[in-house]
Amino acid sequence: MRLLVTGGCGFIGSTFVRMALSRGHQVTNLDKLTYAGNPANVAEVADLPGYRFLHADIADAAAVANALEGVDVVVNMAAESHVDRSILDPATFPMTDVVGTAVILDQSRRAGVRRFVQVSTDEVYGSIPHGAFRETDPLEPSSPYSASKAGGDLQALAWHRTYGMDVVVTRGSNTYGPRQYPEKLIPLFVTNALDGEGLPVYGDGQQIRDWIHVEDHCAGIFAVLEHGAAGEVYNVGGANERTNLDITERILGLTGRDGALIHHVTDRPGHDRRYALATEKLSTLGWTARVEFATGLADTVEWYRANRAWWEPIKSGEYRAYYQAQYGDRGSAPRA
Ligand code: NAD
Ligand code: TYD
Repeated sequence: MRLLVTGGCGFIGSTFVRMALSRGHQVTNLDKLTYAGNPANVAEVADLPGYRFLHADIADAAAVANALEGVDVVVNMAAESHVDRSILDPATFPMTDVVGTAVILDQSRRAGVRRFVQVSTDEVYGSIPHGAFRETDPLEPSSPYSASKAGGDLQALAWHRTYGMDVVVTRGSNTYGPRQYPEKLIPLFVTNALDGEGLPVYGDGQQIRDWIHVEDHCAGIFAVLEHGAAGEVYNVGGANERTNLDITERILGLTGRDGALIHHVTDRPGHDRRYALATEKLSTLGWTARVEFATGLADTVEWYRANRAWWEPIKSGEYRAYYQAQYGDRGSAPRA
């Protein structure tokens, strides 16, 4: 297949691009190269004959139309993806996650692509105290990020209902692995711990996320791309619920640090307490999560230990201003 992957220089996108090429597909990677887009993430495939890169914005209709020539399937991963940045600067999020998604959906419809895969998130459901979200549950997003993703997700489904376009939506859970920008919990805490710096745990640290390895998440997206039914939504979760403090303590153990690095800081506003996904629907497509969490996390820590050249330049650039705005004046919170 000839795939157009957007956001292919980001964390999940670059893993997906490598997986697609290794499975024999041709890939056009369209990426705006925001702060989170890093050409180094795809450097090892940059010269392969089946790969081409286009530096463009998914909200640019002409550039997208050009990129779509000869494309069979679109996988739309491009997004502003970080909840905390969405709280600091909410208005930038709908520009890509809502408007950009509408533009690429419509250009894909005009180009007659065979299938459009919208990569969404479990955060569109909001928080769940018990049980697990099913694909039919209502969307109650809490943050500007998740509200923007819900907008993109619903538009994709509307393009199916209105135009009969072949659209599938994936809602993935919290993802971890190599090459994740060090603003999200795991890469931030791993790189801070490697440097002996504090780990800012929001509130009591008892919030729960369902963690999935990036290879499993990408395999789930592939299963939906290849076998999902048009107009359907598929949860992609790891069945691996962990509190943030559990993650923090594991990272301290794997980096040889102790609990003195933990700082309980003022909680995130609108913080979702727990995410959990029912994944039976995806299982019917033959998918199952394969990476065991203890192994996946240990390998991820080793990747960051071995690849300082990847993350040290990131943490010394624009990141410093972000880190100051995000954590500089944050008060402390009591321990649980
Ligand atoms: P990321 O922030 O690492 O990468 C996003 C990529 O999109 C970057 O390469 C960036 O340059 C590019 N991009 C941003 N705006 C663009 C635009 N307007 N046009 C073209 N490219 C643009 O994100 P990620 O963590 O790899 O997430 C990928 C997708 O998966 C997102 O849609 C996200 O909502 C979704 N998702 C992420 C997680 C997670 O835990 N990381 C979980 C579930 C779903
Ligand atoms: P994050 O990686 O930002 O993903 P999301 O908000 O999309 O779930 O955060 C995961 C969890 O970790 C979330 O409950 C917030 C918490 N967290 C902290 O406690 N401290 C931090 O510095 C960060 C970045 C996250």
